[in-house]
Amino acid sequence: MHPIQTTAASKVEQYQQLLPQLHALIAADADIPIATLANVCAVLKEQFNWFWVGFYLVNDSRSELILAPFQGPLACTHIQKGRGVCGQAWAQNQTLLVPDVNQHPDHIACSSQSQSEIVVPLHNAAGEVAGVLDIDHTELATFDETDAHYLQQLCALLSQHLFQAA
Ligand code: SME
Repeated sequence: MHPIQTTAASKVEQYQQLLPQLHALIAADADIPIATLANVCAVLKEQFNWFWVGFYLVNDSRSELILAPFQGPLACTHIQKGRGVCGQAWAQNQTLLVPDVNQHPDHIACSSQSQSEIVVPLHNAAGEVAGVLDIDHTELATFDETDAHYLQQLCALLSQHLFQAA
């Protein structure tokens, strides 16, 4: 899968071209979820050149998020429920858009270069949060409702194919 040429393609066009390709990739490799999550990170990083793209998965026995496949610099490995943007997205079971992480009262700074962030939950069959997709970028206000819309579609596909065991 090669990055879609971005010279003329709008963000919407990029997502609309990418999602069917990601759907095929996810459906084909649903039985190997870690490999699939790793490839989804790679595709998103290549396409959009974001600073950090990765997953945190809920660890029930520890009641925390644990770092899962990602692309980008070293990241924190444990996040408590309700802590940071990721832990809040888990606790609130909703997508969180943070245009300026410096203004967020409980942002966990894995890198001082990160300036804006979006976190989208993944769900198991019971509708509980199974993990989150976390994306950071070095510029302010990188992510908007368009990103939320399409990344929620992506996370719905991941939830449907990889996280249906409640
Ligand atoms: N900033 C996140 C922590 C994860 S790193 O961005 C990779 C947070 O506040 O939850």
